[in-house]
Amino acid sequence: MTSAVDQQIQKQWAAEAAVRYVRPDSVLGVGTGSTVNLFIEALAASGTRIEAAVSSSDASTRLLESNGITVRDLNLAGTLDLYIDGADEFDPHRRLIKGGGGALTREKIVTAASRKFVCIVDESKKVGVLGKYPLPVEVIPMARSFVARQLVAMGGQPELRQDFVTDNGNVILDVHNMDLVDPVAVEKELNNLPGVVTNGLWAIRPADVVLMATSNGVEEFS
Ligand code: A5P
Repeated sequence: MTSAVDQQIQKQWAAEAAVRYVRPDSVLGVGTGSTVNLFIEALAASGTRIEAAVSSSDASTRLLESNGITVRDLNLAGTLDLYIDGADEFDPHRRLIKGGGGALTREKIVTAASRKFVCIVDESKKVGVLGKYPLPVEVIPMARSFVARQLVAMGGQPELRQDFVTDNGNVILDVHNMDLVDPVAVEKELNNLPGVVTNGLWAIRPADVVLMATSNGVEEFS
C-alpha cells in the first residue's frame, strides 16, 4: 500500500513526465485535479512557453492564469493536438473512470476536441476491471430522482454528492457497485438517459497514453 507521501511524489513524477509531451507554442487542453495542478506548475517551471491552454474547469483556469498561462475559450481554439488530465481509475485498455473532482463534462468535451489524450496517474489508479471507484454521473437537477431510479434499474447504487454543484450548475450522482465489465455498453446506455449530462466513463474514447508513476519511476502504456 502506497503512503500519502509516496502517492504525492508519484503524482509529481507523472506530472513532470507529461511536460515532455507538450510542444512549444501549441494550444494545450488541460484537465482538472491534484495531479493536473502539479502538471500546471511543472509546465510553468519548465520554461516551455505554450500559446494558450483550453481549461476543463474554473479551478484549473485560476491556476493556469496565476502561473502566467493564457486560457482560451474552446470555441476559439479549434481541434487541439494534446489533452493532459488525470483519472480516478484506469484499466489495461486505458479506459478510465473520471469525475472524482466533478469536472467530467468539460473534461469529456476537451478530450473529444483533442487528437491525443495523455493521462497522468499514480499507481493507485491501476485496476483490472473498472468500478471500485464510484462512477460519477452529472445530472440536470430536475432529473435527479428519475435518473437515480434508472441507475438502480441498471444495478447501481447512486448517492447524491453532498453540497456540490458542478461548474455547469448541475448535481453529481456517484454510482456504487455498477457492473462495468463492458464499460463501452454502460457508457452508451448512460449517455442515452434523459437528464444525464455526462458520465465519468472514458471507454468509447479511452486515453491514448497513460503515464503511471510508481516508486521506481514512470511507466508508459500506449
Ligand atoms: C476531475 O473531475 C477528475 O476527472 C480528475 O481527473 C480525477 O479525479 C483525478 O484527480 P486527481 O489527480 O486529484 O487524483
